[in-house]
Parts: sequence; C-alpha cells; structure tokens
Amino acid sequence: MSILLKGGTVVSAKARRQVDVRIDGEKIVEMGTNLTAAGSTVEDVSGYFLLPGFIDAHTHLELNNGKGSMGTADNFYTGSKAAVAKGTTTVIDMATPSKGSSLQDCLKAWDHLAQGNSSCDYTYHMSIIEWNPSIKAEIKEMIDVGITSFKMYMAYDNLRTKDAEIFEAMREIRKYQAMLGVHCENGDMVNEMIAQFVAEGKLSPHYHPLTRPDSVEAEAVERYLMIADLAGLPVNIVHLSTKRSLEAVKRARACNQKVYVETCPQYLVLDDHLYDGPGFEGAKYVCSPPLRRICDQDALWDGVINGQVNTISTDHCSFNFNEQKTIGKNDFSKIPNGMPGVETRPELIYTYGVTTGKISLERMIGLLSEDIAKQFALYPQKGIIQVDSDADIVIWDPNTAGVISATTQLQNVDYTPYDGMQTKGHARSVYLRGQKVVEHGQVIAERQGKFIFRKISKTH
Ligand code: URP
Ligand code: ZN
Ligand code: ZN
Repeated sequence: MSILLKGGTVVSAKARRQVDVRIDGEKIVEMGTNLTAAGSTVEDVSGYFLLPGFIDAHTHLELNNGKGSMGTADNFYTGSKAAVAKGTTTVIDMATPSKGSSLQDCLKAWDHLAQGNSSCDYTYHMSIIEWNPSIKAEIKEMIDVGITSFKMYMAYDNLRTKDAEIFEAMREIRKYQAMLGVHCENGDMVNEMIAQFVAEGKLSPHYHPLTRPDSVEAEAVERYLMIADLAGLPVNIVHLSTKRSLEAVKRARACNQKVYVETCPQYLVLDDHLYDGPGFEGAKYVCSPPLRRICDQDALWDGVINGQVNTISTDHCSFNFNEQKTIGKNDFSKIPNGMPGVETRPELIYTYGVTTGKISLERMIGLLSEDIAKQFALYPQKGIIQVDSDADIVIWDPNTAGVISATTQLQNVDYTPYDGMQTKGHARSVYLRGQKVVEHGQVIAERQGKFIFRKISKTH
C-alpha cells in the first residue's frame, strides 16, 4: 500500500511549498495539493518540514589509522544507525586501502563491512594512497562498478602521495570526468613542526594545532589547485578550515577554475581554545586540520552564506577518549586524529545556521543534501523530494529543543565534541527509500541501507 504524507512543507535548495507527497515502494510517485487519500496509508505531517534525506559525503565509519592497528570506535553498523536516526539517509564513506593492496581488494573489504550492516544507503570515495600502473588501470574499473569519486592525501605519511602522482592521477580521473577530493595539508611541514615540538618536550594537545597552522593548509590548497589547473580537472577540497584557504579558492575561481569546497560542522561551531582544556581534555579535539580561530570560523560562515563553501559534511572518524586518544597522553603526535559527528550535523547546522538567521532552511538543504547529490552523481535519485526520486524523506520538527550528550548519543564512542550544546529542531521520522526507518526519533528498522551505484555526473 502506498503512503501519503499530508499537510507538510516540502523544502528544496531553491524553494518551499505546501504539498502532499505520495510514496509507493521505494519512490516518490505523486506530489500535489490535496491529494486523495484513497488506497494510501495517510500520515498527517502538518506543522513539519519534509526535507530530502541528508547526505554525508565525508565519513570514515571504519578506519584503521595505521598507528598501532587502531580501528575507529564506530563501525558501519553503529555509525550508520546514528546517522539515519538524525536524518542522514546516505553516506559516502572513505574506502581506504592498506599499502600494497589493490583498489578492487579495498572495495571488497568495504563492501564486506557495509553490506547487511548499514542502516542508511551508502557508497564510497575510493582512496588512492599510492600510485603505480595497476592502480592507474583500476580507476576505470572503479567507475565501471559505480565508484565515481576518489580521495588523495597531501599529509599523513601512511596515506600521502607525491605531487607528481597526484597530477598523474588527476589526468587519469579527468578522462572519465570523475571527481577527486584531497586532504590538503603540507605533510613535510607538519612532520618538521611535530619533530621540533617533541624534541623541545612540548607534548600536550595544546601543540597539535601549532603543528598545523593555517599556512600549512593554505599552501597545500594553493598547490593542489595549481596542479588541478595543470591537469584541467575540477576538484573538491575536503574539510577546508581556514580563511587563507578560502582566499586561495577565490583566486583559483577568479582564473575560471572549477573548485568545490567542503567544510565541516566542527570548523563552524568549535574553535581552538578547546585544546587548552583541563588535563588531557584537549585530546578530544585532535583532528586534522585542527579546530581554528574565531576569525577563520567567521570567514567560513561567510563562505557558507555567500556560496563560496559548497557543502558541509562531517569527516566523522571516531576514536574513544579512553584507551584510544589516551595513547597520546605523553605525546600529542600519537593521539589518533579524528572526531565523531555523523549524528550531530543536521541539528547543529539547523540550530547554529538556520535558527540564528545566518542561512535559510533552503540553503541548509543545498549544503547537506541537494548540492552534495549533484556534486557526487547521486542527483536526482537522492537530494530532492520530487516524483521518481528515492523516497528518502526527513520529517523535521522545527519546534523541539535538545542538548547533545555523550550519554544519549547513538554514536559508539565515549564522548562527543559537542557535549552540552543546545539544539533546536530534530528528525521526527525518517523514510529510507519508502520505508519508515525512524519514528519519534527512534530507529525502528535497522540495516536497511544498500549500495548506491553512481554514474558520472554531468553537473561539473
Ligand atoms: O583528523 C581527521 N580528520 N581524521 C580523519 C582522516 C582525515 O584526515 O580526513
Ligand atoms: Zn582528511
Ligand atoms: Zn576525512
């Protein structure tokens, strides 16, 4: 039997309108005013917004950080369940091979982790952590099986490749009009500064952001964009965090380069004073790039408002404070990098973006769903409520208030960087491809996610 969502306000990146929505099977089949109830189960959603399911284009639901075989606290089961509970119906996870393994082997490993475990739909960015003829040949193989985006690193010794290798990879990716995202930090400079602080006995989390100042990011962004320009490839910058990087992006765009910019909630609502918390508390915020100064936060919000920032995803990468972050108790450089966030993004951006008047709800939909879908070849299957699209629908109640807490979160990690922060609004119910998977904020059907095959997008 079909389902009729009656009386709600459907919101897209461009507009909002009061229309009924009929779902049949996995799809939206009809939209209009005063649709007849005959033959449908009716859900009264008056007073609520109907939002396209959110998409998180940057998660590490399962990552081994290469330091002492340490795996993330979350896995596909726990992370995706936390995601869908709050309205994220699709994640694009960073499939990350180990050195020496093929992209095909990595894909098999990620499928094994996700299949039958994920409570939201999923696909992957395939990480390229080394460059050789067989990896080059696998780029097309990945695209043929629906993986149309790739990830490379300019920092982290176990993941980064050389500039020339990034250039060659870009030229290969360009042949297929696929998408590349890069972690932009100058790895050599980071290593030098870590070595210097460690030699001086400066070992607390306070020193983590000092090893990765804004110039470390901005230099890498500028270099990456120059390499992309040489290769003629439109590119994505993941987790951009500073004013100086955004200025580099503006310069590139002024030279007609196509550049996509992602930032993350942590760079919009947290700042670097947190590294000076009591005891070892600062370790909770050790991520790369690090939390920034208020002036960077202001510049990022400006970018979010004026469209210089295209998308907001989380870079969810959770490590427990106890027994994982504490490995770096006597040396900040040993603290595993990353923070949880896949659960909290919608409420944070609604609260600190929409209800403060910084951005409209329509803009939030662009940043968290529609524009991500367009950028990563998921649109119009995902990212919009319209006939023939997947019925991924968040019934958003704007009139609720909450407090983020480690004790009530679904993420399987022993802290949240947003502990104690007040929120407004939340996902009351969530439909995933036509099935109600969340009701009254509770996950009622888990492990219903499936792999989404992507075809090259014509949008870039
Ligand atoms: O600190 C972070 N962000 N860890 C996750 C890996 C990455 O850099 O994206
Ligand atoms: Zn990164
Ligand atoms: Zn990441």
